[in-house]
Amino acid sequence: MQKLRHIGFIMDGNRRWAKARGLSHEAGHYEGVEALKRVVRACSELKVEYVSVFAFSTENWKRTKREVDAIFELVEKFSKTPPEEIRLKFSGSIDKLPQKIVDAVRFAEEKTKNNGGLLLNICLNYGGRDEIVNAVNKILDKKLSRVGEKTLEKYLDTYPLPPLDAVVRTGGEMRLSNFMLYSAAYAELFFIDTLWPDITEKDILSVYEKYLSRQRKFGGD
Ligand code: FPP
Repeated sequence: MQKLRHIGFIMDGNRRWAKARGLSHEAGHYEGVEALKRVVRACSELKVEYVSVFAFSTENWKRTKREVDAIFELVEKFSKTPPEEIRLKFSGSIDKLPQKIVDAVRFAEEKTKNNGGLLLNICLNYGGRDEIVNAVNKILDKKLSRVGEKTLEKYLDTYPLPPLDAVVRTGGEMRLSNFMLYSAAYAELFFIDTLWPDITEKDILSVYEKYLSRQRKFGGD
């Protein structure tokens, strides 16, 4: 039977959720983290091995300083007290972030590396094109001249995660927005109207069941 090993989430709709309640953008992102905890629990129960989420893109720097700072604060807090049993990985241009965030996320990766649960990959200061360009530059620095897919993959931020089996975007928009482009090459796509802070275990179960009923062909018959 087809397995769902790796699922990705584009956590869209935090600000719309907040606006509908007369709350600040920051309050929307706070609820977004609560939703993330629910999603991680639901995925653990379904024995999903890897969950990737888009927390902050290389384009999100265009937002107000207040909102950017709030997202980093949430990441810092989450890194210091991650849900038990999961392993944490951060993908993206992490070293370009403020030092206290770099320290917090590296500490979290180290502290959780021997945990037995699923691996939560948080894409932070991440862009799918940026990831591929950085990989190419690392390969050029190594003076490798011609490489195949297996070698290129080793230089991606998200290595050694397996390819995404499914990508879910909440909030009603239907696009990938530069999320894990290489890894999502053959992913099944799911677009749901629910705003991210409203996502429930039932939504995850529904995506899971739909995924199992899809026929994956990988370009074959
Ligand atoms: C997209 O919705 C959401 C983001 C750009 C940020 C998501 C960040 C978090 C959930 C917090 C990250 C923290 C951890 C610990 C992973 P939007 O803000 O674009 O909402 P909108 O589409 O309604 O405007």
